[in-house]
Amino acid sequence: ENIKLSIDKAFGFVSEQAVAGYKAQVDDANAALHNGTGKGSDFLGWLNLPSSIDEAHLQDLEATAKILRNNCEVVVVIGIGGSYLGAKAVIDALSNSFDWLLTERKSPVVVYAGQNIGEDYLYELQELLKTKKFGIISISKSGTTTEPALAFRLLKTQLEEEQGKAAAQKLIIAITDKSRGALRTAATQEGYKTFVIEDNVGGRFSVLTPVGLLPIAVAGFDIRKLISGAVTMEAKCGLETPFEQNPAAQYAAVRNELYKNGKTTEILVNFHPKLHYIGEWWKQLYGESEGKENKGIFPAAVDFTTDLHSMGQWIQEGERTIFETVISVKESNYTKVFPHSEENLDGLNFLAGKRVDEVNKMAELGTMIAHVDGGVPNLKIELPVLNEYYLGELLYFFEKACGISGYILGVNPFDQPGVEAYKKNMFALLEKPGFEAETKAIKARI
Ligand code: PA5
Repeated sequence: ENIKLSIDKAFGFVSEQAVAGYKAQVDDANAALHNGTGKGSDFLGWLNLPSSIDEAHLQDLEATAKILRNNCEVVVVIGIGGSYLGAKAVIDALSNSFDWLLTERKSPVVVYAGQNIGEDYLYELQELLKTKKFGIISISKSGTTTEPALAFRLLKTQLEEEQGKAAAQKLIIAITDKSRGALRTAATQEGYKTFVIEDNVGGRFSVLTPVGLLPIAVAGFDIRKLISGAVTMEAKCGLETPFEQNPAAQYAAVRNELYKNGKTTEILVNFHPKLHYIGEWWKQLYGESEGKENKGIFPAAVDFTTDLHSMGQWIQEGERTIFETVISVKESNYTKVFPHSEENLDGLNFLAGKRVDEVNKMAELGTMIAHVDGGVPNLKIELPVLNEYYLGELLYFFEKACGISGYILGVNPFDQPGVEAYKKNMFALLEKPGFEAETKAIKARI
């Protein structure tokens, strides 16, 4: 069994023939990825990554994870964007929903820093860490991103003050570029254990590198199964698979056809709260890859049924420029049967004997029908069950479809020039050395 894409509920809005008509374009895009002849071709290291991970690398990751697992109650993953979202998405999806409250723990709690500059967040984190044995995984490909660098300086200082420099050095792992950037300089100088982010893998495509794998292993999940799922999808979305059977090709084709027909927003939907960060990871992947040159589908995400009581109104009856992609999980990991009640005070005896998941599934089905009736095309990706293997399939599927989709759109899916604009202004406002002219210019505007 594999994850399964269904696109038939889009066919009332775009024709099956029109989607089938993408075959040549999609085949060209897929070939351009594999032959390295498309835009951004020096960032294709993710393409054959799952099948090229070797045993020695896995053992190194597992051994490093074990050191942190044995010595820490809390591990702080420092990173922003692609340097933390993949890990958080997978860890959240696989963890107990009340993970941080569990008293009998087999794994450290993984928390995050460097993904914001909230002073209260950092203050509260540092206060908490005063009472915990903690370690740090500092992740930055460039090694110069402000948010994680700021968090790293604070937490490294705290760890060194609490544990002494020698002990702290063993509890800090750096994941960064092989030679450039301030994090590499610090790691070399201080003698941290490091893992390399290869030049040809961009942040948002890096979940199957140590960027994602080390935190996931620290959290106690099986990275071998995750990779094995990704290897399956790598083959299934490869050049040998015909367009009609290639899920990444189909998804790329249908979403581009929907976009052409005015569906400019795609909403990724889940029916399980622990999938929230899969939506965040997906938003980054597609938003940063496709939103450029004044085009690109706007990626949004909602958690159902929660958001049916907020965004549900807009989705049902607002501007008809949206389509939905539902992540559906076929089998829950646990069983909870709804009990019968003699008094039936709540009038819910019609649910007695049913599994909670059956109620959720009927909410899912009912919502799909309502939204399609309301003018919202519906795509579905079904996972047989929520585990490492199928998440590995899902992550690679989305990455591959994103590469193909970006090429169909005509953009370079592997750069992010637009991310620089805010940084330039922030540095100018903070009077960073080297930004004197920009400082003068921006101060004249405020
Ligand atoms: O996808 C990307 O390339 C970005 O979101 C980066 O991951 C993010 O900006 C963090 O960059 P870095 O890892 O260099 O600190």
